Amino acid sequence: MQRPELLERLRDLPADRRIITALDLPTAQEALALAGSLGVDGGFVKVGLELFSAAGPDVVARLREARKDVFLDLKYHDIPNTVASAAKLATRMGASLCTIHASAGRSALTAAAEALAQEPVARNAPDGRRPALLAVTVLTSLSEDEVQEVRPSGDSLQGNVERLAALAWDCGCDGLVCSAADLPRLRNAVGPEPLAVTPGIRPAGTEVGDQHRVATPASAVAAGADFLVIGRPITRAGDPAAALARIAAQMA
Ligand code: C5P
Repeated sequence: MQRPELLERLRDLPADRRIITALDLPTAQEALALAGSLGVDGGFVKVGLELFSAAGPDVVARLREARKDVFLDLKYHDIPNTVASAAKLATRMGASLCTIHASAGRSALTAAAEALAQEPVARNAPDGRRPALLAVTVLTSLSEDEVQEVRPSGDSLQGNVERLAALAWDCGCDGLVCSAADLPRLRNAVGPEPLAVTPGIRPAGTEVGDQHRVATPASAVAAGADFLVIGRPITRAGDPAAALARIAAQMA
């Protein structure tokens, strides 16, 4: 599926299917139980390094059997041949979104994007969609000092974010993982087309926890976010389905 059609289909999903609940859990059993408590027919969940290291492709298959769209957040950063192979495997698993570090470079970004465009879509893929490839620019956990330590170019952290975002889009990536605070400047740098997937979301009145810069669901959407990645405000709520429904209402 070509990029414009894929992005249009993803953006057309209703608000409650553009919330990605982060399954930051150590076992498949806990992850599947939580995924089953979200009250959305379909709906997105995030499988990150922790859950994938513990439960592997099998947990992705079981989430697909439960009709969940899977954001497979493994943040590829390797040589072109290896990231292309990993991207093909994400396709075969029926994932809907996967991630790559933009700093892996032009050849690796292009190889991953081409692998996703060429690999036949899995039989169990939602709505016949291939996975969208999202680029991570600079990890939001890095400070300005740490960025200068690993990339002593004199370019500011924000400059690095914008340059890497433009590179990823140019290489065929479908979107970006970025904070709501960075979105207005990123949209200036790369335009309205790239899909924006935004973590660090806190509905008004919920605990901030270890996040520093947070946005409400409504302000993130107003800033240009297409999908919201949300963990604890849903997963630690007494009623996760009700928490998700409230957030979806705030996005509309
Ligand atoms: O519980 P909380 O809503 O803070 O979880 C946010 C999710 O988004 C976690 O899975 C976290 O790893 C992820 N994330 C983030 N900040 C980033 C990138 C990803 O919080 N910059």
